[in-house]
Amino acid sequence: MIQICNTDSIQHVADKLRSSSSVVVLTGAGISQESGVPTFRGKEGLWKNFRSEDLATLEAFERDPVLVWQWYDWRRSLIKPLKPNPAHYALAELEKGIQDFTLVTQNVDGLHRVAGSKNPIEMHGTLWGVRCMQCNKRFENREVPIKILPECESCGGLLRPDVVWFGEPIDAEILHAIYRCLEKVQVMLVVGTSGMVQPAASFSLVAKRAGALVVEINRSETPQSGFFDFSFQGKAGEILPKLVQYVTQ
Ligand code: OAD
Repeated sequence: MIQICNTDSIQHVADKLRSSSSVVVLTGAGISQESGVPTFRGKEGLWKNFRSEDLATLEAFERDPVLVWQWYDWRRSLIKPLKPNPAHYALAELEKGIQDFTLVTQNVDGLHRVAGSKNPIEMHGTLWGVRCMQCNKRFENREVPIKILPECESCGGLLRPDVVWFGEPIDAEILHAIYRCLEKVQVMLVVGTSGMVQPAASFSLVAKRAGALVVEINRSETPQSGFFDFSFQGKAGEILPKLVQYVTQ
């Protein structure tokens, strides 16, 4: 149910977080919006001006790797100078006090790590990684601009961004790890995601079935808002630091 993020509701969620040993947080593009990272949907979303079919599928890469790499190089150049915002830092702080804390992000910007989150599960991969189309080796790569087309230092094959494109499966081990956490989670926070992309969109259903308190933090109402125990409307960079302050005080 949509809730005003007032002292009572935030205190209720904070109390539950404080007494929980197992917490899962799912984040999406909205958590990085206040850092200056564009979101995907909505008025200023990337998918307003670009077609995902042309840029974020394996077929697009096989058809025109230069175009796809130019787009990823542009995103890397946009994101490289950006810093985490108070929402990223609040999650890194929350993690310190909870025994079993899992941060799952759909974001590829790497900002959770920069903020100090210990082991975020980057389920859609990372902009700062490349993978060889030929030998499948993964490498870290932070060059901006990147040489287009980049080649594998091991076998000379074509490198691709180490991200999950539309139509590609999420790594099975990663998914198993996430579902194991969701089956025993006590509180789940769902922050800055429109809930339009599977399988992430259904993680909260699994958590709810496991009996968790599920809380959404989003600037706008989403199709799932009515389903959550609490849906706090507002900026993640304002609500999360307040929530974590209540937990730690
Ligand atoms: P979306 O762009 O679909 O949704 C962003 C959500 O963040 C929206 O619901 C906004 O209302 C909310 N939002 C924006 N600014 C916010 C703020 N300051 N505080 C809180 N909420 C805010 O992004 P995702 O849900 O992350 O996948 O998209 C999921 C996936 O779709 C992405 O990982 C990407 C994309 O296509 C792949 O590339 C595979």
